[in-house]
Amino acid sequence: MTAHIDIGRGPEGQAIGIDLAELLATRLLVQGNSGSGKSHLLRRLLEECAGQVQQIIIDPEGDFVTLADAFGHVVIDASAYSPREIEELAARVRQHRASVVLALDELEVEAQIRCAALFLTALFDAPREHWYPALVVVDEAQMFAPAAAGEMNDETRRLTLAAMTNLMCRGRKRGLAGIVATQRLAKLAKNVAAEASNFLMGRTFLDIDMQRAADLLGMDRRQAERIRDLQRGQFLGLGPAISRRPVAVHVGPVRTAGRGGGQGLIPLPQAEDGAMEALLTDRLAEAAAAPQP
Ligand SMILES: Nc1ncnc2c1ncn2[C@@H]1O[C@H](COP(=O)(O)OP(=O)(O)O)[C@@H](O)[C@H]1O
Ligand SMILES: [Mg+2]
Repeated sequence: MTAHIDIGRGPEGQAIGIDLAELLATRLLVQGNSGSGKSHLLRRLLEECAGQVQQIIIDPEGDFVTLADAFGHVVIDASAYSPREIEELAARVRQHRASVVLALDELEVEAQIRCAALFLTALFDAPREHWYPALVVVDEAQMFAPAAAGEMNDETRRLTLAAMTNLMCRGRKRGLAGIVATQRLAKLAKNVAAEASNFLMGRTFLDIDMQRAADLLGMDRRQAERIRDLQRGQFLGLGPAISRRPVAVHVGPVRTAGRGGGQGLIPLPQAEDGAMEALLTDRLAEAAAAPQP
C-alpha cells in the first residue's frame, strides 16, 4: 500500500506529504502552543486520508464531531455510556473497523481521562483477529499522558499513563498507530513523546519546550529559533513518513469546520443608558428561586 497524505505546502510552494504506510509504522507527535494550528493540522490529515484507513479520534473538546457529516465517522458521545459499554464499544470499533470520534466534552476532566483510558485499553486488548491498521489520534495529549502528578487521583493516572504508553510503545504490532498532539512537550510524559518517530513542531514560546522540540528535530540552539518564528498553521516536519531533513510546511485548508468559532472580534451590543442593568436584574429573584436544571 502506498498512499500520500497531502498536508500542505513547503517554502517553495512544493506539496508536502505524509506517507500513510510509513505513518502507520512510525507514529506522529505534534506540538505547538494553543492557537498554533494543531487541531487544524490533525483535521487536514484526517480529511486527506479518510476512507483509506480506519480513524479513531479521542476528542476532549468535541471538535472533530463535524467529520461525521462529511466522512461518515460515528460519533460516540462518551457521556451517554457506562464504563463497560465504552469498553464494549471499543472492541466493536476494532472488530468492524469503524472510524469513530470519541467525544468527551460533556464529561468532567477526570471522567474524560478515565473514559479515554478505558477506551484505549480496550482497543489495545482487542483479540488478534481484529488487529487491523488504524490511526488513533489523541488531541490535547498532555491531559492523558501528563508528565507530572497534578490533581488527578493515582489510579486514574496509572490507568491513563498505561493506556497511552501501550498505544505509543506497543500499539504498532496490534495495528494501532498513535498520533498525539500537545500544547507543551514539557507537560507530556517522556516515554509517550519518545516513541514517535515523526514530528510536526508548530509555534512554541517557552524555551524549555523549544529546546525539547529542537532536540527531537536534531537542531542546534541557533536553528531552534526557527521554531519561535513559526506562524499559525506553519510547522517544521521531520521523520521517516515526512522528510529526512526538517522541512517547513504551511498546512493547507480543511473541508470541514471545527466547532471553535467566535474567536474574532464581535461588535458589542449598543444599549441605552440603564438598559443593560435592567436586562441583568430583570426578575432576578424569581429566576434565582427556580430549581436549578
Ligand atoms: N493552516 C491553517 N490555515 C488556516 N487557518 C488555520 C490554520 N491553522 C489554524 N488555523 C486557524 O487558527 C485557529 C487556531 O487553530 P487550532 O487548530 O484550533 O489551534 P490549536 O489546536 O493548536 O489550539 C483556528 O481558528 C483555525 O481554523
Ligand atoms: Mg486544538
